[in-house]
Amino acid sequence: MIQKPKGTKDLLPNESYKWQEAENKVKKVLESYNFKEIRVPVFEHTELFQRGVGETTDVVQKEMYTFNDKGGRSITLRPEGTAGVVRAYLENGMGSMPSPVKLWYNMGMYRYENVQKGRLREFHQIGAELIGSKSYLADVDIILMANNIFEALNIPNIKLTINSIGCPKCRSEYQKILREFIGKNLEEYCDICKTRFEKNPMRILDCKEKRCKELNVGAPMMIDYLCEECREHFENVKSMLEASNLKYEIDPSIVRGLDYYTKTVFEFIDEKSGLTVLGGGRYDGLVEEFGGQSTPAVGFATGVERLMEMYNENNTQTEDKKPDLYILSLGEKENQKALELSLKLRKDGYIIEKDICEKSFKAQMKYADKIGANNLIVIGENELNFNSAKIKNMQTGEEKEISLSYEEIKKNI
Ligand code: HAM
Repeated sequence: MIQKPKGTKDLLPNESYKWQEAENKVKKVLESYNFKEIRVPVFEHTELFQRGVGETTDVVQKEMYTFNDKGGRSITLRPEGTAGVVRAYLENGMGSMPSPVKLWYNMGMYRYENVQKGRLREFHQIGAELIGSKSYLADVDIILMANNIFEALNIPNIKLTINSIGCPKCRSEYQKILREFIGKNLEEYCDICKTRFEKNPMRILDCKEKRCKELNVGAPMMIDYLCEECREHFENVKSMLEASNLKYEIDPSIVRGLDYYTKTVFEFIDEKSGLTVLGGGRYDGLVEEFGGQSTPAVGFATGVERLMEMYNENNTQTEDKKPDLYILSLGEKENQKALELSLKLRKDGYIIEKDICEKSFKAQMKYADKIGANNLIVIGENELNFNSAKIKNMQTGEEKEISLSYEEIKKNI
C-alpha cells in the first residue's frame, strides 16, 4: 500500500470538524480587526523566497521544496505566507487601496524539515499581514490580535516573548561587533555558519547545531545596539503592551528564522511543550525589496497543527453534527418520495440521510442507528397509500404518527 510522505498528515472527519470550529473562532477575531482574507498560489518563483526570506536562512538553504517545471522555470512550494502575500499586494496594485491594508490567510506550507513533534513537512498557518503602518500602534494591534486568538480558543499557559532586531542602519554597526565575537572561534562553527559569517552573521545566532549554540553563549545582542529610532519604537511598544495589561518577557535571543524582519519581533510559546505556536514581527523593507515603494509592514503566523494540539487539550470535546433525519424507504415509489423530501429538507439546511445503496429494511435501520441520526421516518407502501408515517426520535425512542408532508416532517425534526 502506498503511504503518505513523511511529515504529512491526513485530517480525518473526527478531527476536521474541530479544525473548522477553531478556525471559525480565529476568523472572527481577525475579522473583528477588519482583516480580509487573501489566498495566494501554493507555488511561486523560487527567487521570491530567496529574496524575501533570505539566501542565508535555514528555510532557503535547507528546507525548500524546489523543482524545475516542464518549462524549465525554478518553482518552490511556499514555505511561508508573507512573501507571497506581499508579492500579491504589489502585483495587484493594492498599494493604492486605503492604507493600511490588512490581510489574513489560512494556507498550507511546505518545508523539508527534520520531522519531530510539532514539526511537519506540510503544515498550515493562519497568518495576518498589516501593510502600510510604521507606527508602534500597528505592532501592538498585531500582538493583541494574536493574543485574542489564544483567548478566543480558551488556550492558557501561553507566554509572549518580544525583542527588537533593529533596522539596517543599526544592524550593520551591530554586525561588525558580532563578527568580532564570532570571528574568534569561527573555525569551530559548522560549515553553514561559516558561509553566513560575512553575509549575515546574525543568522549564526539562530543555528540549531549543538556546538554552534555553545559557541554563541555570551554573544552581543542586537537589543543593546539599537539606534535611537528603533529604541524609541521598542519602548513605545512595551509601554503600550503594559497599558493593555498584556504580560510579556523580553528575550534578546529571538532573531526569528526569516531575514525580512526589522524592529519588533515576537513569539508566543506553549509553556508546556516549549514550542513556538505563533511568531511574527515587523518587516519594513520587504515591499521595497520586491520592487515596491518603501512601505512598512508587520504581521504574524500561527501553526495550525500546533494551535490545534493546544485547543484540543484545553477544551471539552464537542461532537460533530449528526443527521437530523434518516429517511428509510423500500421500493421505487417510496424511494422517489424519500428523494423528493430529502431535496426539500436539505435546501432548508437540514442534514438528511437516506438509502443510496438499496439496502434492506434491517440494514437501513442499523445504519441509521450507527451514524447517530436524530430522527427516523419509514416510508413503505402503506405510508404512501395513507400519506401518513411514523417518525421516531432516536434519542428518546418516542414515536409519532404524522402526515407524510415536508411541512409536518420539518415540525418534528
Ligand atoms: P515562522 O516562525 O517561520 O514565521 O512560522 C510561524 C509558525 O508556523 C511557527 O510559530 C509554528 O507554529 C509554525 N510552523 C513553522 N514551521 C513549522 C513546521 N515545520 N511544522 C509545524 N508548524 C510549523 C513565518 O512563517 C512568518 N511568515 C510569520 C510572519 C507573518 N511574520 C510576519 N508575518
